[in-house]
Amino acid sequence: MYDFKIEAADAATMYRDLASAVEGMVAGEPDTVANMANAAAVIWETLPDINWVGFYRNVDGELVLGPFQGRPACIRIPFGTGVCGVAAATRQVQRVNDVHAFPSHIACDSASASEIVVPIVRDGELIAVLDIDSPRKARFTEEDEAGCVRLAEILAKAI
Ligand code: SME
Repeated sequence: MYDFKIEAADAATMYRDLASAVEGMVAGEPDTVANMANAAAVIWETLPDINWVGFYRNVDGELVLGPFQGRPACIRIPFGTGVCGVAAATRQVQRVNDVHAFPSHIACDSASASEIVVPIVRDGELIAVLDIDSPRKARFTEEDEAGCVRLAEILAKAI
């Protein structure tokens, strides 16, 4: 049984502890669904002010919903559409302060106000994206981006 309760004084420490927790959870476990599920759960438990966290997987060139925490979400997203699809197509982190100002944003939960999507790439191949939503505008800072990029690096070897 895992009992992670990460209560760090600052964001950098919190992300360092979160990275260690995710590394520990996926260590030696080859099942990708289990690893994505536990990663989504520990991120959900740790990050304040979020209303959705999860994965969209690259299934034959289309993003398909993977393990997540939060409200049920749209299942399939074409590359290039929405924050997730743009992250997948460009392989660039999308950090969106106001999702309503993002032209093709897909509203799965009307409570979402800002979002970060991080591509997960292994051996030059896009495996999935990590998507996190917040009900607070401009929730995600550069520090969050650096922390989530680190999580994506760890997960690239585990999913
Ligand atoms: N908002 C995303 C869709 C996925 S949900 O946030 C869970 C997007 O625009 O790609």
